[in-house]
Amino acid sequence: DRSIKIAPSILSADFANFGQEIRAIEDQGADWVHVDVMDGHFVPNLTFGPPAVKAFRPHVKTFMDVHLMIAPVDPYIEAYAEAGADMITAHVEAGPHIHRTLQAIKAQGVKAGVALNPGTPVEAIEHVMDLADMVLVMTVNPGFGGQKFIHSGVEKTRRVREMIGDREIHIQIDGGVTPETAPLVAEAGADVLVAGSAVFKGGSVDNPEVYGANMKAI
Ligand code: DX5
Ligand code: ZN
Repeated sequence: DRSIKIAPSILSADFANFGQEIRAIEDQGADWVHVDVMDGHFVPNLTFGPPAVKAFRPHVKTFMDVHLMIAPVDPYIEAYAEAGADMITAHVEAGPHIHRTLQAIKAQGVKAGVALNPGTPVEAIEHVMDLADMVLVMTVNPGFGGQKFIHSGVEKTRRVREMIGDREIHIQIDGGVTPETAPLVAEAGADVLVAGSAVFKGGSVDNPEVYGANMKAI
């Protein structure tokens, strides 16, 4: 159902052609562009820093959703805001001061997301609901694309939806989203779905129509 936004993750894109890939997914209907920043410390993988995100910015016409899988996160918020992020999402697990972290993101004039790893209880975000513009429910353990969906995320999404009440806060699902798993979390209350492998599989910058077909199927 189209009230659900699709945010393809460029972690699954061709690392030699980010500009073309971003334009391709947006031409093919992406609502947001999900940028997975990994530091090799908070997660066992290393992707891109502020200079790369700055280079992506002119190619993004929709909404640049930057997912920071880094710790500590506070020292880098300004750099990612300067790089042009429309939203910056930080993990509750990245440090002891998630309330201050979200305040710091908002102070940059950027939308603030708060992310929960699969093992983290929803209570961890109970006291930051008035600061968050989005809750990211991880349905894989962060670090890689192409992993298997963790089904406990469905009930967790329902719990987050209850906690949000009538506030205007997005629920984003991230990890293992496919045509099979998407309906489960959409029904549970998610309104933004990240998908990497399910969008990029089988396509290329020379064959972007596959991206469009893959997104429609989700
Ligand atoms: C994982 C990232 C996800 C990942 C999604 O740490 O946060 O955004 O790229 O990739 P798929 O959709 O293939 O699980
Ligand atoms: Zn992500």
